[in-house]
Amino acid sequence: MNKKRNLVLFIATSLDGYIATKDESLEWLFKVEGEGDNGFTEFYETVDTVLMGEKTFDWVMKQDIKEFPYKDKECYVFTRSSVEDTEFVKFVNDDVTNFIYKLKHKEGKNIWIVGGGELLHSFVQEDLVDEFIITTAPTVIGKGIPLFKEGEYQLDLSLKGVRKFNQFVELHYKR
Ligand SMILES: NC(=O)c1ccc[n+]([C@@H]2O[C@H](COP(=O)([O-])OP(=O)(O)OC[C@H]3O[C@@H](n4cnc5c(N)ncnc54)[C@H](OP(=O)(O)O)[C@@H]3O)[C@@H](O)[C@H]2O)c1
Repeated sequence: MNKKRNLVLFIATSLDGYIATKDESLEWLFKVEGEGDNGFTEFYETVDTVLMGEKTFDWVMKQDIKEFPYKDKECYVFTRSSVEDTEFVKFVNDDVTNFIYKLKHKEGKNIWIVGGGELLHSFVQEDLVDEFIITTAPTVIGKGIPLFKEGEYQLDLSLKGVRKFNQFVELHYKR
């Protein structure tokens, strides 16, 4: 049976490939002048399921937010600890290949992997990501949390599109 939907990475990085500083700051990213919401709403409408690692979830919850930003989607947070589900979030510690296989074979819109780098690493090692939409800031931060961690893998992608949002460049690749 063929898969019914894609797993898509939609993420922003520094020019030197980091998604946050080591102390998890995104200040360098938020100060870059983009255009509108840099394609976010358009992308968000294409997904109905959101995946993230526990550290990214923690980061989201530490922000000054009135409500959980992904409450209109099915949201899964990966953690190796045992955590009780909340109204909006299911915590999972499943084998990523099985979990993604099951999700991709369910009817629905695409699946968004929000990040971060550690969760993405589990996914790219198993070649589970179908599309990569990477928005690059014109900023070199020297060190930080890498988008792609070092490992024994190679992904040969094909370029599907390039868009410019003022100072940002969005690169869209397909597996
Ligand atoms: N620039 C952007 O667009 C962007 C996007 C997303 C995130 N970020 C930033 O990235 C940072 C976090 O990234 P990160 O790489 O440090 O962490 P992460 O991937 O968000 O979270 C890592 C945690 O997820 C859990 N995890 C990872 N792989 C797992 C697996 N295969 N099975 C079960 N659980 C798994 C573990 O949680 P436990 O330790 O609980 O077991 C692990 O410690 C934050 O600062 C966030 O703001 C930036």
